[in-house]
Amino acid sequence: MKQASEWLISQNKFHRDARAPGRRAHTVSITGGKGGVGKTSIAIKMARMLSQRDFKVLLIDCDTNLSNTAVKLGLPLNDHFMDLVTARKSFEECLYIDGNFHLLSACNGNLDLFERNLEFDRLLIDVVSAHEREYDFILLDCPAGLSKTSMTLNAYSDQRIIVATPDRASITDSYSLMKILNTKYGVNENHLLVNKVSTLSQYQRMVKTLGETVENFLTARLKVLGFVALERGAVDRFDQELLGGANSALERDFAKVLSRFTEETIGANVSAQGSTRPYMSNKVREQDVQPAIC
Ligand SMILES: Nc1ncnc2c1ncn2[C@@H]1O[C@H](COP(=O)(O)OP(=O)(O)O)[C@@H](O)[C@H]1O
Ligand SMILES: [Mg+2]
Repeated sequence: MKQASEWLISQNKFHRDARAPGRRAHTVSITGGKGGVGKTSIAIKMARMLSQRDFKVLLIDCDTNLSNTAVKLGLPLNDHFMDLVTARKSFEECLYIDGNFHLLSACNGNLDLFERNLEFDRLLIDVVSAHEREYDFILLDCPAGLSKTSMTLNAYSDQRIIVATPDRASITDSYSLMKILNTKYGVNENHLLVNKVSTLSQYQRMVKTLGETVENFLTARLKVLGFVALERGAVDRFDQELLGGANSALERDFAKVLSRFTEETIGANVSAQGSTRPYMSNKVREQDVQPAIC
């Protein structure tokens, strides 16, 4: 059997010079070494907002047996992913569909899935490549940690959004993730989204520290997308905002992030509100810290 990295390179789009003819979907990993930083929340918000802006979006929960996407969306849990893996159901039968928003959720403590010890990276990449012509964006909500599944999915994706929070552990874990992606898989570009930001100076320090470390020690670039403020209300307040109102602080923060990302990836400003600003480099500049914390 081929080594995982060899197989990845044979599959991998970023090793190709040009996009395959007729290919549509941008595959984006929402990732970051640490758990609890907001990867799933950001993936859901991004998928929802893109689908509301008329893009056809597939969100795949890649945390195969600790799936959180359905929970956060208030949907009933199911084992459709297991049915897909065992070919008992078709891909379409396993989806939750709400207009342009399609979700392939995964399992929660499914014993059968656990005992099968499957190669989830191959399996998920097979799903992506089978359906990438049907979507504008395929978002991968990646599990925490430096598992082979996570690294392979990250490396396979066209873009990676590293979600990190302004604490030392998250900064260190994000750097570790980028280091392995860079040295083992040749990934030389990542986007950074800082979540749970309390103050502008905190955000500024974080961007500077991580940006300069990446620049000095890796042959990689870090493209800063901006931040999402820390919601200090009741525990489930953030989750309510995630699904709700067009005028929420989260919506405003995220509209800016999304504009930057889509301007760069598809050359279009998809934000319905606010102006977009040019792409920010990994050097801290004044405009990196302009958005007001709400
Ligand atoms: N900006 C934020 N402000 C407040 N709470 C947040 C924010 N982002 C995420 N959370 C909360 O943090 C917890 C972890 O988020 P989650 O998206 O599940 O992280 P991950 O997927 O990285 O493990 C959840 O309870 C979520 O509601
Ligand atoms: Mg998660």
